[in-house]
Amino acid sequence: MKPIGPLMIEHRLIERMAALLRAEIKKMDESNKPDVGFLMIAVDFMRTYADRVHHGKEEDILFRALATKKLEPEHAKIMNELIEEHISARKLVTALLAAREKYISGDRQSLKEITLLLETIGNFYPVHIEKEDKHFFYPCLDYFSKEEQDDMLKEFWEFDRKVIHEKYQKVIEGQEQRKA
Ligand SMILES: [Fe+2]
Ligand SMILES: [Fe+2]
Repeated sequence: MKPIGPLMIEHRLIERMAALLRAEIKKMDESNKPDVGFLMIAVDFMRTYADRVHHGKEEDILFRALATKKLEPEHAKIMNELIEEHISARKLVTALLAAREKYISGDRQSLKEITLLLETIGNFYPVHIEKEDKHFFYPCLDYFSKEEQDDMLKEFWEFDRKVIHEKYQKVIEGQEQRKA
């Protein structure tokens, strides 16, 4: 498998979450209330899977390896755009979590904010993913030898292995702090 293989497989799951986010807007329109349970699941997915597991491998491994190569200006430009997009995705997810908390604390106005954020995030991911899948990942491979690609794939698996432990370490620490 090429190192872009796991990234593209992950994209398919992130697209499914993006579709769920967009579907949630319709449900909210009908019921006039957000499903706060779903929103928490969505935030966790976007933080843990989309951002830590997926963007983590892109930024900490692929982009970092690319930064050591002499990139064509168009590829350097796309990589910078992708990094910026990851930053804005993080901000949007934080804003969604804050809007959810506002709603729970009784601020019904935050319903509009939640809708807008679901729409923005739900539309953001497919565009970001298309940029990577269709305009970035394949040309990226040409910068690496077969051996470098194999090493990168190994690094990806190792990264994934660590993240699951990191995730639940944080879950326990968070709960311990809450109970303290
Ligand atoms: Fe990305
Ligand atoms: Fe990606």
